[in-house]
Amino acid sequence: MSHHIVQVKGLRHIYPDGTIALQEVSFLIHHGESVAIIGANGAGKSTLLQHLNGYLTPTAGDINIGDFPLTRATLPDIRRTVGMVFQDPDDQLFMPTVFDDVAFGPLNLGLSGSILEQRVEECLSRVGAAHLRDKPPYHLSGGEKKRVAIATVLAMSPDILVMDEPTSGLDPHARRQLLALLKDFSHTKIFTSHDLDMVFELCERTIILHEGLVKADGPTREIFNNADLLAECCLEKPFSMQNCAACGRPKTGL
Ligand SMILES: Nc1ncnc2c1ncn2[C@@H]1O[C@H](COP(=O)(O)OP(=O)(O)OP(=O)(O)O)[C@@H](O)[C@H]1O
Ligand SMILES: [Mg+2]
Repeated sequence: MSHHIVQVKGLRHIYPDGTIALQEVSFLIHHGESVAIIGANGAGKSTLLQHLNGYLTPTAGDINIGDFPLTRATLPDIRRTVGMVFQDPDDQLFMPTVFDDVAFGPLNLGLSGSILEQRVEECLSRVGAAHLRDKPPYHLSGGEKKRVAIATVLAMSPDILVMDEPTSGLDPHARRQLLALLKDFSHTKIFTSHDLDMVFELCERTIILHEGLVKADGPTREIFNNADLLAECCLEKPFSMQNCAACGRPKTGL
């Protein structure tokens, strides 16, 4: 896959109970872009992300990853290209130990022995979870599970990183560590977040989803400066762009 573009065309998703989660969503993300998908609770963000590596099947519309349409035949290749961190880490961790969970993907890619050990150790260290390697995932705290879930995806060295609420449940130190890690990741990054300060810091482009539709798609700073748009979509400016609570003046350096 040459350019690792992500193209979504006319995507519609209706759940079996009749809920229209995505009415019509289209966008094109180029290789190397860092894009945030934001929106109120229930806007359709997780539903959208789960289409990017085929966990859900579109009611209508198409998805292309790199040079290939997402189909049953291309799914195994696309899952290797697109690493997906789910909103709920319990959807991602299913092995008896943390080590086994992080090793699962690389093992399927043919890694073994000391190379596999090294890959797992390195990915756990990058998310500050090396000390958890022998624990069963169901004994971990919420934030620890999140770190391990991220490590399982890093272990696959994906070309496109898709993360649903990556900082939710993380303590400030782990959040900062993840931000640094994401800044270092030079390939395509797509994530949803209610952590708008992280969005402001990491993403040059932001897409607002509102009631299953793309309400805005453009430079992050422009979007966060559009108060009417934010209010209409039940969103607020990041804290770092809000006026100082003590003196009411704009914060410096922005
Ligand atoms: N399995 C399901 N069956 C039926 N409806 C669903 C299902 N999963 C999600 N929905 C509905 O689809 C809509 C979009 O949900 P989704 O989880 O994509 O929202 P979200 O933008 O990720 O919200 P949040 O910010 O709370 O994570 C919501 O109305 C939700 O109730
Ligand atoms: Mg969600």
